[in-house]
Amino acid sequence: MTLITCIEDLRRLAKRRVPRMFYDYADSGSWTESTYRANEEDFQKLKFRQRVAVDLNNRSLRSTMAGQEVAMPVALAPTGLTGMQHADGEILAARAAEKFGIPFTLSTMSICSIEDVAAHTSKPFWFQLYVMKDRDFINRLIDRAKAAKCSALVLTLDLQVLGQRHKDLRNGLSAPPRLTVANMLDMATKPRWCAGMLGTSRRQFGNIVGHAQSVSDMSSLSAWTSQQFDPSLSWSDVEWIKKRWGGKLIIKGIMDAEDARLAANSGADALIVSNHGGRQLDGAPSSIAALPGIVAAVGRQIEIHMDGGVRSGQDVLRAVALGARGVYIGRPFLYGLGAMGEAGVTRCLDIIRNELDISMAFCGKRDIQQVSSEILLP
Ligand code: GLV
Repeated sequence: MTLITCIEDLRRLAKRRVPRMFYDYADSGSWTESTYRANEEDFQKLKFRQRVAVDLNNRSLRSTMAGQEVAMPVALAPTGLTGMQHADGEILAARAAEKFGIPFTLSTMSICSIEDVAAHTSKPFWFQLYVMKDRDFINRLIDRAKAAKCSALVLTLDLQVLGQRHKDLRNGLSAPPRLTVANMLDMATKPRWCAGMLGTSRRQFGNIVGHAQSVSDMSSLSAWTSQQFDPSLSWSDVEWIKKRWGGKLIIKGIMDAEDARLAANSGADALIVSNHGGRQLDGAPSSIAALPGIVAAVGRQIEIHMDGGVRSGQDVLRAVALGARGVYIGRPFLYGLGAMGEAGVTRCLDIIRNELDISMAFCGKRDIQQVSSEILLP
């Protein structure tokens, strides 16, 4: 039995258990991966101010994100192909998040469908939307998310074109994987994953297959993106989407103060400072470096969340100190899922909660809602 003490342990175990094509898909950035690396590295540059002899009884991590109560200010990020890290991955992760008391965000590019996740959970989850050329399909997706009682719509604006990911190209990423000799040899070394996949019928993009028309290659994310995603997306689309949805709206993919102002003026309930985990524009700054400028520009007008590079509860604390009301984790929960299914996602959340709680205490704080930039050294 492998001893799991931190997110890095989960990552190593996932790497052993998940076929290379899907492990690489999760654990990579675009082009030189400089932004992907900066997302993690820039967190380490922020140093804590240790305080002592402060009453540390009755600590609380409870907060709200987009008006919803959360056990800690963390949500599971929308990640594509989650059901390829582990059979039925979206359902398992949604269940772990629900039990923990934090939001799960289902990606448009998920394997399990909106309806399927709703049928296997008992509390509302969030749905992430990509805007495609086929507006009927988008309208239907929004209506399906409403019918499934999703409690927030996360609208992603930074993936109308796809950043080139070398590993995915080399691996011939597709869902389900093509049965080439190389893939079969790799899968032969991942018996748990194979057993899970043989035991489920969920192996394609569940929100799309059988719902969207005129798609020639549904198995490949890059083919799908270049054919279907709408490069003409504009702020006026945000307006009709907001109207059609009618509920809580969160705008994802903001890296610039001017875009943050537009997002705030769009009437959204929150925005996410995000460079898509370093998977889109390589050479952009890290999310944590972009956060303070955006907080300064629109922090009084709109709730601000962030994602990218969070690998510990300490990183959550740093982001909250710099003004993020909430933080999304993608890769950490995918590692947990690939390593140990639902139990691995729960383990990931337990690790993050413990690191967050203890680090907050070292900084002399008892309540996450009282954390501000004063816990960081200037
Ligand atoms: C989105 O689906 C991605 O692959 O980054």
